[in-house]
Amino acid sequence: MTLAIINCSQLVTIAGARRARTGGDLRQLAIIEDGAMLVRGEYIEAVGRRREIESLIDADCEMIDAGRRVVMPGFVDAHTHPVFAGIRANEFEQRASGASYREIAARGGGIRSTVRATRNASLSDLVKVGKHYADWFLRNGTTTVEAKSGYGLTLEDELKILRANRELNTQTPLRYVPTFLGAHDIPAEYRSRRQTYVNLIVNEMLPKVAEEKLAEYCDVFCEEDAFTTDETWEILSAARCHGFDLRVHADQLSLSGGAKLAGELSCATADHLEHTDATGIMALKAAKVQPVLLPASVYALGSTKYPAARDMIDAGLAVVLATDFNPGSSPTPSLPMVMSIACTQMKMTPAEAVTAATINGAYSLGRGDEIGSLEKGKRADFVIHDVSDYRELAYWFSIEHPWRVYASGRLAYQRG
Ligand code: NIG
Ligand code: FE
Repeated sequence: MTLAIINCSQLVTIAGARRARTGGDLRQLAIIEDGAMLVRGEYIEAVGRRREIESLIDADCEMIDAGRRVVMPGFVDAHTHPVFAGIRANEFEQRASGASYREIAARGGGIRSTVRATRNASLSDLVKVGKHYADWFLRNGTTTVEAKSGYGLTLEDELKILRANRELNTQTPLRYVPTFLGAHDIPAEYRSRRQTYVNLIVNEMLPKVAEEKLAEYCDVFCEEDAFTTDETWEILSAARCHGFDLRVHADQLSLSGGAKLAGELSCATADHLEHTDATGIMALKAAKVQPVLLPASVYALGSTKYPAARDMIDAGLAVVLATDFNPGSSPTPSLPMVMSIACTQMKMTPAEAVTAATINGAYSLGRGDEIGSLEKGKRADFVIHDVSDYRELAYWFSIEHPWRVYASGRLAYQRG
């Protein structure tokens, strides 16, 4: 089965060096004006000017006329919490009335409220609601998500969430890259015996998740209110021994030392980084840790403390943008919305934002050779956006731009 996509106003390939993009390379989108693409089965066969591609077309090729729209890779959302039960619109209202995220958490709301609801849900309940959110990601142009557990916080409930991820990966067109986040919060029943919970993660959860191959990465919420740097170190070191690569929620609510620790442990990513200082940025640089910036969570919490994206780019870091989709701090599946906030609040350029939400996300997930750009041999994950210039994606904000979305060469979403 071959597909030819022709008549693209811009084919935004993001082709380039086979590595995460830094510095000036973040702005190089390798756009082909009036470009076209040939797809065979699940993979891209050729990318080029319309004439070149048309010369390769055979009789049984399905033609897709992009109608002078922008065609680009599916977004790679490298930080999401997509499996949970219940919603927290009540907390959204409380924050609007002046309560802070931390105050709400301190009185038993926040992550713990989603944990209660998720523990009460069955695997099939979680898959059902997860499909609804998968649809939201796809219709916003995302074809791959990194998917964290973390709303179970018992062995069985964490396994249930990771199994839901696995089901969603096979039952929806969205690709899920699973991360174990048993260290998302100290559950209520362990509050007075934190170390017992850390031991449970290290001695029971990590071995079981590894044995069942339910996750590729391990993440910890390193923060005064969650896990200390010592606890984070203990959990991530154990995770590495079990073969997991590492990610960490770092310096989100305070300068807790998470970025420094991410450098010391050579994590794949350090995420959030709202409070990271120059020392933290240097630590990330020295260990080639990718910063995953989540400005929609800053926006949704009503804060103005955005991470220092420009300093990170100037320091040569391979910046990633992601949604942090979750029911508390970041209830949005939209990477274009994140890109808009990145441009207006963090002064990233539209081109930098596109790179950060595609190829750099892919490299942060160890999949830079497979997804994140439109190049021969890569998976045919692409989106036809109903705009003629890629800068419009973040400029017209809060619009669902995708007209058609393809994952591994198959139609995954179609408007209307
Ligand atoms: O990335 N920071 C910790 N975890 C999430 C919030 C999850 C929640 O509020 O439910 C985050 O922002
Ligand atoms: Fe998060």
